[in-house]
Amino acid sequence: MNKYASNLDAIPVGKLAPDEAAEELARLAAEIADADAAYYNDDAPDITDAQYDALRRRNLLIEKRFPKLKRADSPSDKVGASPSAGFEKAKHAVPMLSLDNAFGDEDVAEFDKRVRKFLGLAEESELAFTAEPKIDGLSLSLRYEKGVLVLAATRGDGETGENVTINALTIADIPERLKAAPDILEVRGEVFMSHEEFEALNTRLTREAEAEEKEPKLFANPRNAAAGSLRQLDAAITASRPLHFFAYAWGEVSEALGETQWDALQRFKKLGFKINPLTKRCKDVARMLAQYAEIERKRAALDYDIDGVVYKVDRLDYQARLGFVSRHPRWAIAHKFPAEKATTVLEDIEIQVGRTGKLTPVARLKPVTVGGVVVANATLHNADEIERKDVRIGDWVVIQRAGDVIPQVVEVVLEKRKKGARKFKFPERCPVCGSHAVNEVNPLTGKADVDRRCTGGLVCPAQAVERLKHFVSRRAFDIEGLGEKQITSFFEQEIIKEPADIFTLRQRQEAGEISLYTYKNKADGDLYLDKEGKPVATNLKSIENLFDGIDAKREISSARFINALGIRHVGETNARLFASHYGDVAAFYEAAVMARDAEGEAYQDMLSIDGIGALVAQGVIDFFDEAHNRDAVDRLLAEVTPLAAEVANTQSPVAGKTVVFTGTLETMTRDEAKARAQSLGAKVSGSISAKTDYLVAGPGAGSKLKKAEGLGVEVLTEEQWAMLIGS
Ligand code: IVH
Repeated sequence: MNKYASNLDAIPVGKLAPDEAAEELARLAAEIADADAAYYNDDAPDITDAQYDALRRRNLLIEKRFPKLKRADSPSDKVGASPSAGFEKAKHAVPMLSLDNAFGDEDVAEFDKRVRKFLGLAEESELAFTAEPKIDGLSLSLRYEKGVLVLAATRGDGETGENVTINALTIADIPERLKAAPDILEVRGEVFMSHEEFEALNTRLTREAEAEEKEPKLFANPRNAAAGSLRQLDAAITASRPLHFFAYAWGEVSEALGETQWDALQRFKKLGFKINPLTKRCKDVARMLAQYAEIERKRAALDYDIDGVVYKVDRLDYQARLGFVSRHPRWAIAHKFPAEKATTVLEDIEIQVGRTGKLTPVARLKPVTVGGVVVANATLHNADEIERKDVRIGDWVVIQRAGDVIPQVVEVVLEKRKKGARKFKFPERCPVCGSHAVNEVNPLTGKADVDRRCTGGLVCPAQAVERLKHFVSRRAFDIEGLGEKQITSFFEQEIIKEPADIFTLRQRQEAGEISLYTYKNKADGDLYLDKEGKPVATNLKSIENLFDGIDAKREISSARFINALGIRHVGETNARLFASHYGDVAAFYEAAVMARDAEGEAYQDMLSIDGIGALVAQGVIDFFDEAHNRDAVDRLLAEVTPLAAEVANTQSPVAGKTVVFTGTLETMTRDEAKARAQSLGAKVSGSISAKTDYLVAGPGAGSKLKKAEGLGVEVLTEEQWAMLIGS
């Protein structure tokens, strides 16, 4: 390990005591001076740029927190590379989840029904919800220990975010200290910027850029402005930006905040947080919808963006019983406002080829502003859609965008159609590789797919490059310094053809097989050049940084690894399900190969995973059925070690056990029993086999009980089961 690395996994800045801070500032000043000397005087840098940036950044953070301790020889006063590396990572004690969406009144009624069914509540019994605006900003988790803010972390991927503590402290709505707070309290809420402040900020940025004769870099909307302002490496910039915070949820807490969501919000208020004034407690669906209408009516007059209403089950004991399903709580839902629309001219239709070979027609539009964002492209989904909407090139079209989703073409304004409007002919061949493009027949339904796909597979460069982009993307390998631009460039140069090639870059460079070197150019930043001197990647600080970024991912979670493979129908959620079911990539791989036999146990076992259906299973089987895919995975596994997945709960006495429920359950519904068992790491199956560990039998149990007894499966009453799992 490098001598400098010791500083970087140090105590979070928010937790440093003043004497520790002073000591560390002295050490940092010395180390940075050494590194500067090595770089400038000796021309022989002995740490990577990333490490250097991290040192300077840590120095700055400590100085921001303890301004009085700033040294006369502070590195931050010296010219030199300003810190540019990212923030420290911060793992959330409790994951930050997202919300399921409802788009209409029926979805809200469905939600109420689902919750009742899960809890076993009759239609007439009382079930209250809170209704609060869904703020369109960025979520932030604030961890207080003994009343002191020790960590502010962005959501990130939900598991790990960025430590933005010092920046958060510059926001007036975020108290640094709390009185009479639980020992551990993680307050979660939304950081946002008002419309007026957003306009003023863009005006100011324009003026400043003009003064320096530069192109201004403006924010597209208040949410981007809030995110951009909070995620500033220089906290002084965050301090100069007007940001606000509404509290609405929590992570880890050492004691209950109340009995209901409503009480918890009142507690936040008492502790000094702002809660949204439009929040209301509603005792039934009719009142929830009335509050939705009320908030929607007030929306235009609000000085900040909201994009819907969030309903949450009020009783916290119910919330606890409801728990989570994949990435969403079962006890909450976001009822979205209808999308915003605009009209513009469709200038052309182009075909994009995705990583699964799907040909997507994209409308090139005359740029238009929709809800504060300039839109120049919109998806047309597929040939059927173009046909059905009778979209022609040159037409005026209505487009809409909702939240983060890709803008869509809603309809054609027929009254405005000109004579020259031209029908689009959907290509029969892939525009990138020329292979035939076909509408595959779904093996399960026998119906032709609406999407047309390129049959080029591995020979299609569009698919290969999209797969590689997916491989390095944020939710997959997330390799620092290797983004879409670099991948495209390396791919074109034939330096990276498949994932494993990423991990042999350093070795090939050292063996002289490839020759990447940096070249300073003021206008473009650093460029990587190959042997012929062609640029192969831009905006990377140095090759060493890139190699370090790659090496940092030689160990990776099994879920990320599986997601990165880009198997059809297997995204982040399903990858997690597979990882936690099989435990690691090797077991998943083996099961996928075995599952080819649809009669076999491996196939049945795959289908027994809650959330995995036949279509997903088919995607996995097809992927591993191809020898070239298996070879590519084998080559990757020679370079990368996937870590064993955290099985839902390995400590629990039922982890890994297979349970079947039968008969009437008395203290909870079947859904709840199943969800609870799964959260404890048990597999819940619908049928008894020799592999069943427990049959939980309530009154009225019939054939399953007989079969279990015949097979010698242990039979438990509901009470015995409750004892076993300790509830
Ligand atoms: S509750 C476990 N309440 O919406 C669920 N979220 O799609 C915790 N958001 O990431 C979220 N206003 O950034 C909740 N009143 C509100 C919200 C809200 C905005 C955002 C939040 C979250 C996203 C979920």
